[in-house]
Amino acid sequence: MISMKIPNLKDAKVRTRNKSITKENEYILNDNLRVLGKGKTYFVKTYGCQMNEHDSENIKAILEDMSFTEVDDMEKADLIILNTCAIRENAHNKVFGMLGRIKHLKESRPDIITGVCGCMVQEESVVEEIMTKYKWIDIVFGTHNIHNLPNILNTSLAKNKLEVEVLSIEGDVLENIPVKRENPYKAWVNIMYGCDKFCTYCIVPYTRGKQRSREPKYILEEVEKLVKDGYKEVTLLGQNVNAYGKDLEINYTMANLLEDVAKTGIERVRFVTSHPWDFNDDMINIIAKYDNIMPYIHLPLQSGSSRILKLMGRRYTKEEYLELYNKLRSKVPNCSITTDIIVGFPGETEEDFNETLDVVEKCKYDSAFTFIFSPRIGTPACRMLDETPKEVKEQRLYKLNDLVNKYAKEANDNYENKVVKVLLEGYSSKDKDMLMGYTETMKLVNVKADSKYIGQIVDVKITDVKTWSMDGIIVD
Ligand code: SAH
Ligand code: SF4
Ligand code: F3S
Repeated sequence: MISMKIPNLKDAKVRTRNKSITKENEYILNDNLRVLGKGKTYFVKTYGCQMNEHDSENIKAILEDMSFTEVDDMEKADLIILNTCAIRENAHNKVFGMLGRIKHLKESRPDIITGVCGCMVQEESVVEEIMTKYKWIDIVFGTHNIHNLPNILNTSLAKNKLEVEVLSIEGDVLENIPVKRENPYKAWVNIMYGCDKFCTYCIVPYTRGKQRSREPKYILEEVEKLVKDGYKEVTLLGQNVNAYGKDLEINYTMANLLEDVAKTGIERVRFVTSHPWDFNDDMINIIAKYDNIMPYIHLPLQSGSSRILKLMGRRYTKEEYLELYNKLRSKVPNCSITTDIIVGFPGETEEDFNETLDVVEKCKYDSAFTFIFSPRIGTPACRMLDETPKEVKEQRLYKLNDLVNKYAKEANDNYENKVVKVLLEGYSSKDKDMLMGYTETMKLVNVKADSKYIGQIVDVKITDVKTWSMDGIIVD
């Protein structure tokens, strides 16, 4: 008998008034599990946002606790895990495409163990599909029970059968999960989990559970340790970081947290993602006050039409967004601001779309991620009447992208001949003779420099500007 815990969107939507609970000892590894992976290799492929990237860092650490060794070639791995994203349809399609490839691999190497986890398997339709069409998969686990991976894996191996454990719960805060950091200079730090905003198009509140803030002391301990270990940069992670602390028993906000993290002395502090709704003056003042809080803000717009924003459940109007935007620009000088925009939301007219173009004209973003609306089963927008033809939506996307690219290039042009601080992280992927890194404002810079500079923040003079990157040389 296959033992299973299957997700359902109805439970995933529930929000009670119960406080979230911090658990310090939830991840336990028995001695027999510590050697389960001895002599075996693993490969984790990550889809989706920074939170998923960071979850993969947890998954990798857990697998290494079990004595598995990482390989960077999927074809050579004994255990393959896909950490999936459910945000848009094409994310789904990519994963199912990859499952086809893995099936092929498994035909020549039947011993391969395959796992699927992350946001997609929080959806009941996906788990049903796996259980009927992809029975050869060994384990399925969700976003709430990564810590239980060793037991899920062990059970599946013992029974030689598909083991599914996905919980549709609000979730707790688990504090003792190990992490294998991908980058030795920059670290992700979760400050909150889940989301309670329920924007009408978005699946995240269903796949990640309710908003749960980590208690400040755990976050600050983590950052202090990172400083000691030589990290230069932390990115504070959450779906809606500005709402940090609202669910805590103590009176402690994102502005308080930003200030305390800045005071640890870490050289660079970043945070994603900000929802315009909770972006208050306290936060702006703290960003402006501390030099080590980076002048880079991702401020998702989604639509420039107040009518569509209302249908999206975003709780701000075009005018309110612009007011906040202008305030940020004036109070945080030289700040770079990026955004996310959806075109083709159900009922979006040409007039609505022109409002979006108008906001882009006014804000002249440093860059923007642009998407065509993708209906997600279970969300309110999925049930809204959507009569705009696909071709029209595509045309809108192209038009929007042209405008976005124009301003991205303009914003970068301002950097020509300027000297900026760049944290050099490693070799450029395109040119192995160059090093790469990011400016304080999150611009990608390729620098001709000796490898001894890797891991350092250096002054770089920008010599050439392109739309998506810049070239520069180190100045002393
Ligand atoms: N928490 C962040 C967004 C996380 S999802 C915020 O509130 O800003 C990242 C982006 O994906 C969103 O900003 C949105 O632009 C896009 N997105 C989310 N759901 C989508 C959908 N159903 N179709 C198309 N784009 C979507
Ligand atoms: Fe999704 Fe809205 Fe939450 Fe962002 S704030 S994760 S878009 S529901
Ligand atoms: Fe995707 Fe889940 Fe992140 S749906 S965007 S991986 S929270």
